[in-house]
Amino acid sequence: MGGAQSLQMDYGFANARLRKFGPPVGTAKGKRAFMSGYELTRERRSDRLKRKVRDLLGPWGVFFQGFLEHPVMVGSIIPSSRFTIRKMLAPVNWAETKLFVEYGPGVGTFCRPVLDRLPRDGTLLVIDTNPLFIDYLKRTIRDSRFIAVHGSAEDVEEIVRAHGHDHADYVLSGLPFSTLPEGVGPNIAAATQRVIRPGGAFLTYQFCKAARNLCARYFDRIDDGFEPLNILPCVLAWAWKDKAD
Ligand SMILES: C[S@@+](CC[C@H](N)C(=O)[O-])C[C@H]1O[C@@H](n2cnc3c(N)ncnc32)[C@H](O)[C@@H]1O
Repeated sequence: MGGAQSLQMDYGFANARLRKFGPPVGTAKGKRAFMSGYELTRERRSDRLKRKVRDLLGPWGVFFQGFLEHPVMVGSIIPSSRFTIRKMLAPVNWAETKLFVEYGPGVGTFCRPVLDRLPRDGTLLVIDTNPLFIDYLKRTIRDSRFIAVHGSAEDVEEIVRAHGHDHADYVLSGLPFSTLPEGVGPNIAAATQRVIRPGGAFLTYQFCKAARNLCARYFDRIDDGFEPLNILPCVLAWAWKDKAD
């Protein structure tokens, strides 16, 4: 059968399905059910190309793809610098850390440095809304102390409990607080204040002061910092929960 003929048959089949089942559902799977062979081959080729480019660029490629798909939720096109990581983690008392939680790990820029400092019996629990990042982290970080959860930071208390802990010692956030949907930022700050043990802290870094100012409403004390060697330079804040609480 000639290419043009088989193409025509594919389109005929797709049209018949369309008449029977109605318009395709907005998911990739639903869309594929109504695609012709030619369209499918073309999509597979472009998927393969995307994967090749992503693999070539490594974590930066995955991060950039995450940004292209969800620019508002990701909020940055480049992961944090090693200067930001070092400064942000410096005040943590690692010997007392059993559970370290991270919101919005992206491609895991902070994960390895946290695991390097975490005691052997500690746990790093990361939460991200982007399944692309969670899938990448699960594939690339092989450490029994590491848990990656696809979910929202708003549900941190439930997620921490589901993994057998009453509280977290420290929570680190790379969330873009200023672009989160209405009400999500305050919900996250309040839930974080409740989940952290007395004497623990909420660590935030952001290009503006939104996270820092929000934390000031929920925590007892804020230590301020700034890291110029980051694209873009960023505001660091350590929000402490007093031991007496
Ligand atoms: C600026 S990126 C952080 C990148 C990374 N931590 C770094 O240092 O390079 C923000 C991340 O927050 C995630 N995110 C956005 N809203 C979230 C939410 N409600 N709960 C958990 N993660 C969220 C995004 O998917 C993205 O991975």
